[in-house]
Amino acid sequence: MSSTPLYDALRAFAGAEPLRMHMPGHKGKPLPLPELAGFAALDVTELPPTGDLYAGGGPIEAAEALWARVFHFFHCFFLTGGSTQGVHTALALACRPGEQVLLDRGCHRSAFHALALLDLYPVFLERPWLSGPGVAGPIAPEELERQLSLHPGIKTVCITSPTYYGVLSDIPTLARIAHAHGAVLAVDAAHGAHLPFLGDYALSAADLAVVSAHKTLPAPGQTALLFSSAAFDPARVRRTAALFGTSSPSFPFLAALDATRAWMEEEGGAAYRRAAERTASLRAYYPALTPVDAPLDPTRFVLRSPDGFADQDRLAAQGIYPEMADRGHVVFILSCADGPSEFARLRAGLDALPRGECAFPPPPPLPQAVLSPRQALFAPAEALALSQCVGRILAQQVAPYPPGIPVAAPGERLEKKTVAYLNDIGYNMREEVQVVRGSVCSAEGRPGFT
Ligand SMILES: Cc1ncc(COP(=O)(O)O)c(C=O)c1O
Repeated sequence: MSSTPLYDALRAFAGAEPLRMHMPGHKGKPLPLPELAGFAALDVTELPPTGDLYAGGGPIEAAEALWARVFHFFHCFFLTGGSTQGVHTALALACRPGEQVLLDRGCHRSAFHALALLDLYPVFLERPWLSGPGVAGPIAPEELERQLSLHPGIKTVCITSPTYYGVLSDIPTLARIAHAHGAVLAVDAAHGAHLPFLGDYALSAADLAVVSAHKTLPAPGQTALLFSSAAFDPARVRRTAALFGTSSPSFPFLAALDATRAWMEEEGGAAYRRAAERTASLRAYYPALTPVDAPLDPTRFVLRSPDGFADQDRLAAQGIYPEMADRGHVVFILSCADGPSEFARLRAGLDALPRGECAFPPPPPLPQAVLSPRQALFAPAEALALSQCVGRILAQQVAPYPPGIPVAAPGERLEKKTVAYLNDIGYNMREEVQVVRGSVCSAEGRPGFT
């Protein structure tokens, strides 16, 4: 394996048979869970030989620097709270409380939660909805230019690329536009940690970028990375990340990030390229979202289906579990861990599915925001069946797929049209959602309380 400074430091520490008079309480002895037998040896705390994530320096910073090099970024910070911690940190680095942010309407709920935590006010960047496949397309550069010209005070843009469906936006072009308006571009690339290992470095044009190692790389749950440009002082990045992370980050997770990068550089990249080739052959054979519909992650396979939910159940009956389904698609994450036998099994499962496609009604217009995300998410709330929510202000987002975009977000009033759309696309209208307690809202959007 290529250099693994943190993993090596932890192994050397464990091998020296230290007397561990510190936490964790297992003291490096086997955990009462045989599957995690080797875990405890590396599970240490902040000590001179192991380092301190939030202080920088030592073997952790050396391991982060190797990731920064691979991703063509100035700096990398290891996250043990998933991309969720990264999105919160990125927005805290880019914005001050009370500011407006130009936000991809397709952002993950971690971004909506960051708005509430940081008291930010979103102006939404709309995505075109690809008409044929019924999936949201990339952020159009013209939309970014239009919104930044309309809102010259906005100095932060936050988008998601790739999306759950693998749709990629043109980051270098979007970054150029943002920079021309004096704005920072933050990219939630939670689903794209593998792309630089396939030779795609477009993400490095962003000022801040977050990737989940655990989503697409051989890395454990919760491991993720925050990349930043030279405009952000690394010491400030660490201090800000500490606001949203545990004060006891897991050293085995940090070491796993170090070892994952080394393995990806040595073997994983080639394995990923083979997975991309196999994915291309699946796309050619089955009705699927393809790079002709939109620029796509070469390893994301999105099957078009007459009934995505039924197909998901049919596959589960064969022991095959996709990442997710919507009414007209089934989404599969393929990675370097999927070799010929996994692809053959998937093909056999796909062969047993009925073929066809599903039509989607156009999404409703964006509802009106009557409370800020912070007011809505921290307000006293009550649970109500969706069918009863017309006129109520949401205290959560309602985000059915497709297009993977919240039909309504926290602080927005649920309109009749929105509820009718949810009904039309087969959303479970009995599902309970959180609405601001006692809230009613006039047609003009003025909030009131019963
Ligand atoms: C686009 C996107 N961003 C962020 C996240 C949060 O990632 P994590 O689970 O690593 O916290 C997710 C999770 O699904 C996601 O899909």
